Amino acid sequence: MRRAPELPDADFERWRQLLEMRAGMVLDDRQRSFLQIQLAARMRELEIADYDSYYQVVCAGIGGRIEWVRLLDRLTIQATRFFRHPPSFALLEAYVSEFARTTEGNGLTLWSLGCASGEEAFSMAISTAEALSRQPRPLTFALTGTDISSEALRQARQGTYSLQRLAGVPASLRERYFRTHADGSFEVTAGLAERLCFARLNVLELGQAPLQGLNVIFCQNLLIYFRRWLRRDLLNQLVQRLAPGGLLVLGVGEVSNWSHPQLVPVDHPEVLAFTRQVSPPA
Ligand SMILES: C[S@@+](CC[C@H](N)C(=O)[O-])C[C@H]1O[C@@H](n2cnc3c(N)ncnc32)[C@H](O)[C@@H]1O
Repeated sequence: MRRAPELPDADFERWRQLLEMRAGMVLDDRQRSFLQIQLAARMRELEIADYDSYYQVVCAGIGGRIEWVRLLDRLTIQATRFFRHPPSFALLEAYVSEFARTTEGNGLTLWSLGCASGEEAFSMAISTAEALSRQPRPLTFALTGTDISSEALRQARQGTYSLQRLAGVPASLRERYFRTHADGSFEVTAGLAERLCFARLNVLELGQAPLQGLNVIFCQNLLIYFRRWLRRDLLNQLVQRLAPGGLLVLGVGEVSNWSHPQLVPVDHPEVLAFTRQVSPPA
């Protein structure tokens, strides 16, 4: 493998600023070699010799926008897995059961923000479907997964995973919600998949998302890439997207000392979550 050319200080600074301005992601000095390797790999594919020329390409017009989307697939960290933080999904299941028992509506809407290749969204869907399957009256749900990475979304829409990637899914759920392909991979059943849709969304452009009145929002392992003030700003916007009584689940430790007048913290030792008050404070 050819070594990536050294990323000069001035170029590192420029790329770092672009990434933060356009995607909110903050790179520190420890991630410099990661940035260098990813930029150089893409430059090799495009036969571009230096970082400055590639920067000009990414910043130029429509073509630059398209190239930026390609580059983001390389620069975003899409590490994820099914039922990544099991207590969050247990909380979701309990919330959905309670919702079904106490609410007259006939369905729920859910949002997985920064859904990567779909594992979080499908885990939410499975937990919700399980809770609803135990209810005496029929209820349905719709779930939207959004992410900035188009490659991650392509995989999510495909909904097909290797046995290894299904490691967090108990065998009984695997049998109920996946069908096996001849090559040994597992595809989400049509009955579950039809409840989900995936769309590209940069959280810095939350205003463009038409989602409102959500019963559940999961935003896990996304805010960690952003500055503190931005995390709080995004969370304040998400509160406005929740229905009264709605549940917001975050990654543990992703925000500290944050509160919102319309939110009540969920008292849970292992999950960072809030519910929106049913009636606004007087
Ligand atoms: C580490 S993954 C977390 C996936 C999943 N939520 C989980 O907890 O397993 C972070 C995801 O956030 C996405 N992401 C990063 N910056 C983003 C932005 N500005 N807008 C939307 N998604 C973003 C990445 O593409 C990536 O898929």
